[in-house]
Amino acid sequence: MDNDERLARIGARAAAEVAEGSIVGLGTASTAEAMIRALGVLVAEGLNITGVSTSNRSSALARSLNIPLVALDDVDRIDLCIDGADEIDPNVDVVKGRGGALLFEKLVARQARRYLIIASNEKLVPRLGTRLPLPVEVMPPGWKATSREIAALDLNPVLRTSPDGSPFVTDGGHWILDCDPPEGGFSDPSGLAHALKAIVGVVEHGLFIGMADLALTIDKDGAITETVRPGR
Ligand code: A5P
Repeated sequence: MDNDERLARIGARAAAEVAEGSIVGLGTASTAEAMIRALGVLVAEGLNITGVSTSNRSSALARSLNIPLVALDDVDRIDLCIDGADEIDPNVDVVKGRGGALLFEKLVARQARRYLIIASNEKLVPRLGTRLPLPVEVMPPGWKATSREIAALDLNPVLRTSPDGSPFVTDGGHWILDCDPPEGGFSDPSGLAHALKAIVGVVEHGLFIGMADLALTIDKDGAITETVRPGR
């Protein structure tokens, strides 16, 4: 099964979790977009839902599919948030942010009664920090000082740039430092999350600890596996 087919299948499986009348957090990037497209089909067939988007690009896609959207500040609850991830560990703790939307993804996910992660099974890792750099969203002013403080946490931060070489700018107007983890990954992701948040110039980081309830992952043959957060 090719990658587009895998995304379409996992997207459709996740969209099937969305109940009539619910308020749904719409994630960002390729896997979440497959889910938004599947949701668009269900809406065209009569499903009545309201979306809360996590990025400008997901908003544009949802609008093109006639999925009704409201702002996060216009709702007092989100029933279900569905999003992709870059790494998923056995506790269903995840790293997010390759798509640059981690701040709004976390804001929306925090309000969700149920948080579902969808991904190809290459994203499953025994330990966070073993597959990709950790994205950290920072204030542009003082970013070099912030970068030095992050480096002191045994990370190697590199400023993310756009194709023209200028800094990549998030929907919130911030920059991103992609931080190479130490050899072997993060021994204490929770402690690292707190240490990063204690740095003044850090707006948010891509460690989503204790947030997701369930991960659905799809293998190369299209088989879908459910991983439930231990204790849920
Ligand atoms: C977006 O900012 C990210 O958090 C994405 O959820 C993550 O990078 C997964 O992206 P793909 O679904 O494109 O792999």
